[in-house]
Amino acid sequence: MDNSKKTKRKILVTQALPYANAPLHLGHILEAVQTDIWTRFQNFNGNECLFFCADDTHGTPVMLKANEMGIKPEELISDVYKDHKSSYELYGINFANFYSTHSDENRKYSEYIYECAKNNNLISKANIEQYYDEKEEMFLSDRFIKGTCPKCGAEDQNGDNCGVCGASYNVLDVKKPISIISNTVPIKKESEHIFFDLPQKNKMLKDFLKNVDLQESIKNKLNEWLNDDLKKWDISRDAPYFGFEIPGEENKYFYVWVDAPIGYLASISNWAEKNKLNMQDLWSENSKYEIYHFIGKDIAYFHGLFWPALLSAANLKLPSGINVHGFLTINGEKMSKSKGTGILAKEFAEITNPETLRYYFAAKLNNKVEDIDLNFDDYVQRINSDLVGKYLNIASRSASFLKKNNNILSTNIDSNILDNLASKKDEVVSLYESREYSKLVRIIMDLADDVNKYINEQTPWKKEMDEAVDISSTAIKAFYILSLYLHPIIPSITNEAFKFLNIKKVSINNVDEAVTKINDYKPLLNRLEKIIIPEEENMDNVNLINIDQFSAVDLRVAKIIKADDVEGADKLLQLTLDVGDLGTRNVFAGIKSAYKPEDLTDKYIVLVNNLEPRKMKFGISEGMVLASSNDEAIYLVSPDEGAKPGMKVR
Ligand code: 2FM
Ligand code: ZN
Repeated sequence: MDNSKKTKRKILVTQALPYANAPLHLGHILEAVQTDIWTRFQNFNGNECLFFCADDTHGTPVMLKANEMGIKPEELISDVYKDHKSSYELYGINFANFYSTHSDENRKYSEYIYECAKNNNLISKANIEQYYDEKEEMFLSDRFIKGTCPKCGAEDQNGDNCGVCGASYNVLDVKKPISIISNTVPIKKESEHIFFDLPQKNKMLKDFLKNVDLQESIKNKLNEWLNDDLKKWDISRDAPYFGFEIPGEENKYFYVWVDAPIGYLASISNWAEKNKLNMQDLWSENSKYEIYHFIGKDIAYFHGLFWPALLSAANLKLPSGINVHGFLTINGEKMSKSKGTGILAKEFAEITNPETLRYYFAAKLNNKVEDIDLNFDDYVQRINSDLVGKYLNIASRSASFLKKNNNILSTNIDSNILDNLASKKDEVVSLYESREYSKLVRIIMDLADDVNKYINEQTPWKKEMDEAVDISSTAIKAFYILSLYLHPIIPSITNEAFKFLNIKKVSINNVDEAVTKINDYKPLLNRLEKIIIPEEENMDNVNLINIDQFSAVDLRVAKIIKADDVEGADKLLQLTLDVGDLGTRNVFAGIKSAYKPEDLTDKYIVLVNNLEPRKMKFGISEGMVLASSNDEAIYLVSPDEGAKPGMKVR
């Protein structure tokens, strides 16, 4: 196929900006993986696709968290930024730029868009009444109020809805309200707020929803909101607030949901500056770039209504598409820290190879707004069966035959099976484009099954060398095509595969590329073991030490060269220990009830070598020997045969 004629699309992609008040959990990774696969695919298919993100740094939760930690919000968001960035890196998320909403660019764009809105008569002011916490001297949004449900009388309910009878209500109607920040009773207080005139944008938003690439179910929901009575949007918050002050106002800040999506522009413009590109060419009314947002279903309202309204106020290009995904559940349950299912991205990356999670998510994701379940047993089984057992198995079982041929492939290959694989390329491309990853993965694994079946039927192990090399060469070429198809999903494993295949330049359109000589095969992925997440509750009962504290204990193998009773001591034996090059030690050990001195000579034990010497009634003890014990018995800990005195124990 001649790709030179294809017009290269230019695409800007964003994912939702994570809040800068907590580490990333696996729900964040689900979205990042979905977006990253799409971005990588676009570039792999010859388009220019740039993926932008930033930390969402403003708002009350960040401010309160910093207060609680006794640090400035700036310090908190700078620490969280580093943590978020490195967490995404673990999962191979390939941002063009990962930036921050607490930035000059973001302030500039926020002020600019506000100014434009003002000039277009979209801004007005009105007094509103809210709860006010006199102790903390701050206004309280609904989430910081608890109280008795005005409908059914259930106590301790949320500020705007009741978990018992399901009613939604105005926070000011809650009975016996309590500020959850200070546990005091809040007062009602008026203040002036600034509003964005959303109803004026009703027609524009309806047109937008007609044109934007967005799931029908979400479009319907948004249209419902548009047809109900759309209200003016309160875009200001009173001090104290961590955010940008509104120009021309005193002690009024932009609500975090104003400058959060504007953070997309900030991240892009920061990148443009560094790359000497013009924002006009990237994101302006007439720019050539398509704009795609990837988000979760809970924030469709902001991205489908408020955000396009803000953009249109400033005459900026509207999103071409919004891809909405469902929530992540873990082992069938909503994520919750106390149940051990609120797993952090970093924790999970320590238990498993993070790239395998990309594969699992891809195997479950489609382009619908459905929730996705990460089931640990299914996950382990899937990785071992698909990636290790099907895909990589093709390379490992074929490489051994080619090794006998100096790793050189034969040209006498079976084109039937390869043509079939290559013929699936357009379908693969189209499934990536439409984000039907689970269907795509199924097709690729069916192809891998075909190749394994081919090898089984051809039985290279029973054939003469020439024929075995032909069969294996066919299989290795098939492995190459499968690696191309999987590349956006598992980029580092397939990059290793391309090194093994001696392929330098990879593109999804190069299915016909010749593989002529391979390198020795080294396993590209180990089988996964059963996943066990340490339970929070159990962990709480253990006094944890870190690795440095543990390393500070110098444990050594020692040989008992002499053991004696200690006169006047009921429990102690006196041991003389040989610690190899470190010399000898005198230790008093409380093991008399379990051992006779004569049985101990020449026994190997484990010594805590750097315990501070202890002066005892009978002499100085220069260390401690390790023993397992309970109320009834004592057993010395001994190394296996072969250990030598002085060896370190870890
Ligand atoms: O829901 C959230 O996690 C928000 N921090 C998402 C912001 S997306 C964008 F608008 F900035
Ligand atoms: Zn109720």
